[in-house]
Amino acid sequence: MLLEVQDINVHYGKIAALKGMSIEVGEGEIVSLIGANGAGKTTTLKTISGLRPLTSGRILFDGKDISKTPGHKRVELGIGQSPEGRGVFPGMTVQENLLMGAYTRKDDLKADLAEVYELFPRLNERKTQFGGTMSGGEQQMIAIGRALMTKPKVLLLDEPSMGLAPMLIAQIFDIIREINKRGTTVLLVEQNAQQALKLSDRAYVLETGEVVKSARGAELLDDPQVRAAYLGGDLGV
Ligand SMILES: Nc1ncnc2c1ncn2[C@@H]1O[C@H](COP(=O)(O)OP(=O)(O)OP(=O)(O)O)[C@@H](O)[C@H]1O
Ligand SMILES: [Mg+2]
Repeated sequence: MLLEVQDINVHYGKIAALKGMSIEVGEGEIVSLIGANGAGKTTTLKTISGLRPLTSGRILFDGKDISKTPGHKRVELGIGQSPEGRGVFPGMTVQENLLMGAYTRKDDLKADLAEVYELFPRLNERKTQFGGTMSGGEQQMIAIGRALMTKPKVLLLDEPSMGLAPMLIAQIFDIIREINKRGTTVLLVEQNAQQALKLSDRAYVLETGEVVKSARGAELLDDPQVRAAYLGGDLGV
């Protein structure tokens, strides 16, 4: 397994956000986390990328315990995150924003930058526009592109479709599939469970900080409980 999250507990003060949570992500997979607001999806990603400390449990990456490894070192190891709410630097150009993702890298960035521009032609057209003046969907592209510039082995995506128009949502999901096809493992958090499950090899259902179900994406799409709770009942049949 590329990434193993083993029995982790994570707290915000006295509040337990994750309670004995375990997930695994194999190399080459797309794995989704679905669950209601407050279930602990963002906390899971932040804990994997090192932005939140563990109370207990451990996280293995490439078989090594990274539970205490600082966040910037995890980026160097190959854990790239596109955060919830995007976090684009408003006063930097599109290109500067992308290059921020690679600031610790010493190798040649040209090919990766070209690849990001190929995946997101819109960013290519707007290289010199300030990040803060890009539309919501375009800022989402910057955030994903910036994470790709870290050259991750696993890309953690928190709600990449949030706030996007339906056509752009479909495009973002296509791009995630393409990123995966080119060799990057993906751990995806999505409210848009229907599309996330369609795209995913496997998925975990999170409820109040615990995994209550895990199965292949296609299986969860057909699961009556999952349908009722996360897929809007009979919609999308
Ligand atoms: N900074 C914080 N301080 C205190 N509690 C927090 C903080 N961040 C998150 N929590 C709590 O931890 C729990 C899990 O939150 P988290 O953001 O991981 O949920 P989520 O599944 O990503 O939800 P959403 O779908 O709304 O993004 C929630 O009960 C939330 O209120
Ligand atoms: Mg969240």
